[in-house]
Amino acid sequence: MKLLNLSLLIHLCSLLLVSTQPTDQPPFSCDSTDPLTKSYKFCKTTLPINRRVEDLVSRLTLDEKISQLINTAAAIPRLGIPGYEWWSEALHGVAFVANISQGIRFNGTIRSATSFPQAIGIEARGVYNAGQARGMTFWTPNINIFRDPRWGRGQETPGEDPLVTGKYAVSFVRGIQGDSFEGGKLGESLQVSACCKHFTAYDLDNWKGINRFVFDANVTLQDLADTYQPPFQSCIEKGKASGVMCAYNRINGVPNCADYNLLSKTARGQWGFNGYITSDCDAVSIIYDEQGYVKEPEDAVADVLTAGMDLDCGEYLKNYTGSAIEKKKVAVSDIDRALHNLFSIRMRLGLFNGNPAKQPFGNIGSDQVCSQEHLNLALEAARNGIVLLKNDNRLLPLAKTEITSLAVIGPNANSSETLVGNYAGPPCNPVTPLQGLQSYVKNINYHPGCST
Ligand SMILES: *[C@@H]1O[C@H](CO)[C@@H](O)[C@H](O)[C@H]1NC(C)=O
Ligand SMILES: *[C@@H]1O[C@H](CO)[C@@H](O)[C@H](O)[C@H]1NC(C)=O
Ligand SMILES: *[C@@H]1O[C@H](CO)[C@@H](O)[C@H](O)[C@H]1NC(C)=O
Ligand SMILES: *[C@@H]1O[C@H](CO)[C@@H](O)[C@H](O)[C@H]1NC(C)=O
Ligand SMILES: *[C@@H]1O[C@H](CO)[C@@H](O)[C@H](O)[C@H]1NC(C)=O
Repeated sequence: MKLLNLSLLIHLCSLLLVSTQPTDQPPFSCDSTDPLTKSYKFCKTTLPINRRVEDLVSRLTLDEKISQLINTAAAIPRLGIPGYEWWSEALHGVAFVANISQGIRFNGTIRSATSFPQAIGIEARGVYNAGQARGMTFWTPNINIFRDPRWGRGQETPGEDPLVTGKYAVSFVRGIQGDSFEGGKLGESLQVSACCKHFTAYDLDNWKGINRFVFDANVTLQDLADTYQPPFQSCIEKGKASGVMCAYNRINGVPNCADYNLLSKTARGQWGFNGYITSDCDAVSIIYDEQGYVKEPEDAVADVLTAGMDLDCGEYLKNYTGSAIEKKKVAVSDIDRALHNLFSIRMRLGLFNGNPAKQPFGNIGSDQVCSQEHLNLALEAARNGIVLLKNDNRLLPLAKTEITSLAVIGPNANSSETLVGNYAGPPCNPVTPLQGLQSYVKNINYHPGCST
């Protein structure tokens, strides 16, 4: 009897523990327990997404519409629609970028993440399900061609070869979005959304006083077709990317985000792109402010919306779309088109299907972040990525029995930050080269030698 009581008590305690745990569940629309949502056509999961989105957009006031055109989209409480953060990064694993992309945080149950594509998509869902993300649209991969070695962001890309970069794009996007390696498994629903950037011919930071914001790339049609576009075409056609980011720079005079030929005719028309197009951050404001391409801010808004851009990373569209409509430079139908693309993505992510815990991908838990399987994959990828260029006198592998002491010199030898690169989260279990050697040779003298 005593034993039974005890076990009952334990059982009760564990029940109590479960029920008092904070609910970290992320917000969602179309809660089936809310009687209001039953009347909304946009909540009817039996209807095709385009009909649902049409219904949703038709219910919005102009102010509500404008509030959805920027990366930090406002909540629309009267329709049960929570806010949404479009900007998250995940180039080297689900990323935290202090003071810029605020979509992800690592201060909850999940404190770190691994860094390879097949794992990123699963971990990104896991982070979202754990309530540590305000969105599932990741602005990755970077598939610009690394033609000029002085380009500071070259390390984000797989290199200078358009074919390799295209293949990398396809695998990256399929991995993140939850498609099979061969493609075609995905269908409509997205594990999380990937974004091919920066569209296009964007691979210069600062050269002879020209920076990326004002750079006007002089590209021949042949070079565009041979070099810069193939990765984007593959990313869209074969990878089925659900996002594209237009770049800051101009091409032959025209800003990328204001280029109808590029965004609508090529990407949507020729390549069949059916996702959303975001600007790079503040890329709309620079069209007027820094490039002086247009006469007034409303012209920049009109140019990007009629070109086919859907989302502004920044505040420019929030500030100037209303006046652009008043001045008859923008039609509400241009805004509706953008909203259609944006809400389609949120629906494909399952955010308008009621409780996400009951949806596909809803059961990806925090235990799948930094799982042994993902750590093994990261190790395998790292091993496959290492190239030994020189091995004089067969120095490597170090003879463990003969090497009794070692000097390790260099500022990056003990930096885990250097290991992950940019757009990364805190790595799961980083082992620096120094730490690796320390487990191999007992007597090690380490000196940074110089500062980084
Ligand atoms: C982020 O912003 C805070 C406050 O504005 C500032 O103190 C901090 O240095 C910033 N961090 C980075 C990495 O820029
Ligand atoms: C984590 O950070 C977010 C954003 O800064 C903050 O709102 C939240 O309260 C923090 N959560 C915890 C558990 O510290
Ligand atoms: C761009 O390239 C064309 C063809 O090579 C050339 O005629 C033109 O002068 C170039 N423009 C600039 C601004 O360099
Ligand atoms: C938008 O308007 C706000 C408030 O007036 C201002 O602080 C902000 O700088 C503006 N942003 C842009 C990009 O125009
Ligand atoms: C290497 O870095 C780790 C983690 O920051 C630190 O604990 C350790 O003391 C460092 N080792 C040396 C020799 O500086």
